[in-house]
Amino acid sequence: MAENKQAFQKCINPACGAEFECSEAFFKCPQCGDLLDIKYNWDKIAVPKKLSDFGKRWTTRNNRLDFSGVWRFRELLNFCPDEFKVSIGEGQTLLQQNDMLAEFIGMEKGSLHLQYEGLNPSGSFKDNGMTAAFSHAKMVGAKSCACASTGNTSAAVALYAHHCGIKCTVFIGSGRIAFGKLSQAMDYGAKTIQILGDFDDCMKQVQAVCTKLGLYLLNSLNPFRLEGQKTIMYRILEGLGWSVPDWIVVPGGNLGNSSAFGKAFGELKQLGLIDRIPRLAIINATGADTLCELVNNRKLKWNGGEVDEKIYKDFYAELTAKNFSPHTCASAIEISRPVNLKKCLRAIEICNGIVRAVSDEAITDAKALIGKYGLGCEPASAATIAGLGVLLAEKVIKPNETVACVLTGHCLKDPNVTVNYHKEGAGKYSNPPTECPNDLERIIKLMSQD
Ligand code: F0G
Repeated sequence: MAENKQAFQKCINPACGAEFECSEAFFKCPQCGDLLDIKYNWDKIAVPKKLSDFGKRWTTRNNRLDFSGVWRFRELLNFCPDEFKVSIGEGQTLLQQNDMLAEFIGMEKGSLHLQYEGLNPSGSFKDNGMTAAFSHAKMVGAKSCACASTGNTSAAVALYAHHCGIKCTVFIGSGRIAFGKLSQAMDYGAKTIQILGDFDDCMKQVQAVCTKLGLYLLNSLNPFRLEGQKTIMYRILEGLGWSVPDWIVVPGGNLGNSSAFGKAFGELKQLGLIDRIPRLAIINATGADTLCELVNNRKLKWNGGEVDEKIYKDFYAELTAKNFSPHTCASAIEISRPVNLKKCLRAIEICNGIVRAVSDEAITDAKALIGKYGLGCEPASAATIAGLGVLLAEKVIKPNETVACVLTGHCLKDPNVTVNYHKEGAGKYSNPPTECPNDLERIIKLMSQD
């Protein structure tokens, strides 16, 4: 079946390798339960010869697909006919060269770039994936959908579901979501169910609910979502004049982004559209550092798809025995059983990737710097700059290397963390407000103090 199609689904487990048409909707291989991938027969797709050909579509942006920062690259995610493609203007994001922050952290001018995905319609990178997954949902005629979320997925799902006229339920861990994100899910009209548990509990429940009730699942287990997230990398290349950076730095939670980025670069290399692949640095929070533990300490590897499952199953059993629940101020990445683990291991192999974990203190300090010198971001996104600091100190990343950090979410998603950091004056870069009597003399005196 596969050789006749432009695109098809394939199980990533080499022992299974089952293939399915894109017109079917599963979130796991129905034969063995492993993750599904989208594969392309590139010889059946008219892929532009040069990456810069995609950039020419800026001039035809009155065409809704050329306007979308995802569908502008449509031949590289060619799994559904145009008539089903959904767009609400996602992907109008920017790559900011940030020399002030570069200098502050000891990098050379021109080296550091921040890819601000907070500029998406729902304020996070998730919209890149949702536009792709909802296009697939429309293609298969889905009427009702669901997701588990630490917040951003639920906001993006709620927004796109409403746009597509699909009913939507979101599951969030009680007390585990930033207020900006919760407010979006409610405002966009999603049925919001708060489960007394953490994200991993919600993830488990939502899979059971989707199986039992036949709902369309929108977590990053959904392979079509990751196809959309590949375009974040295309836009970074575009922002660099179609040149390849030395490093991509990304926060690691459920590991959908890192998986998608590895796939994107592997495909571009295969197509001859790039001549080298950047290295990938994935940054966990220390309070939710499963990937860091498994890769660095327990030596878990992709190994051509023959992943040693005992290594991570033993680790998860240890977490269960300890009744472990992850905790970090970067609530978006407060995840201890990442569903895309295997695909992420593949991305690490493709991109010669590395993993580090950073403390909440390092995250909030880095967030303040990104706010001061850049466009701001939410806590999880700041793990990138905190991780970059670690990798510069280790001399793994050199000050003159070209680095692109993916700032995954908008600075207004989690104002509580920001206000607490500055208000309490406890952080290295806190900038607390000063109270003053309602008196002109006193106000002027206070202003002349520094
Ligand atoms: N950054 C932000 C702002 C996020 O919302 C997430 C994930 C991540 C990073 C981690 O990305 O899962 O691809 O490794 N948020 C999910 C959610 C889990 O439910 O909103 P990942």
